[in-house]
Amino acid sequence: MIFNQIDVGPMQNFVYFIGDEISKEAAVIDAGWDVDKIINTASQSKLEIKKIILTHSHFDHVQGVSELADKISADVYFHELESNSIKKHIKNGTIKTINLKDNDEINVGKIKIKVVHTPGHTLGSICLLAENKLLTGDTLFVGAIGRTDLPGGDALKLFESLQKLKKLDDKTEIYPGHDYGETRFSTIGNEKKNNPYFMCKNKEEFMKLVGIF
Ligand SMILES: [Fe+2]
Repeated sequence: MIFNQIDVGPMQNFVYFIGDEISKEAAVIDAGWDVDKIINTASQSKLEIKKIILTHSHFDHVQGVSELADKISADVYFHELESNSIKKHIKNGTIKTINLKDNDEINVGKIKIKVVHTPGHTLGSICLLAENKLLTGDTLFVGAIGRTDLPGGDALKLFESLQKLKKLDDKTEIYPGHDYGETRFSTIGNEKKNNPYFMCKNKEEFMKLVGIF
């Protein structure tokens, strides 16, 4: 599997590529800010982007989606609960959009990307699992979590989503949607030891930590 993490924009966003080494087919995950950088990085790796997958509908993750999908003729995938917000960013009616739900699989060549619905930061936030790499969007950062005080945010739902992620193997690598941590990626095992939000044992402890009593 080809895997790339690139920095875009002024808000420390990460955009990712997941590609099949044989077919060179690739998906780009999130589409914020610098569309030309995304396209140039893909072409340097000789990848052909066929799919754009959006972890959630916030501006900094999606504002390049219309331009990117237009330039490379890719289809756009997102959770069904983010559909209304994301479609506002898609200007061209010919761009094909596909609604996702929990446990769906997206094929990129021979690579399978599994959708893990993790509401909390937004209602339709998703994480994406490809081999041992989990792309966590704004659900889980290195050492922190995404905000729950924005429209659609729900701290209790985020707590439940984190419990779902804790069931993954400790060696699963996590790749967040922002470079907010001490390192650019981590593992489920490391977060269990170091991330105060991920370490909470019950929802009361968690709600106290996020400031909701
Ligand atoms: Fe966000």
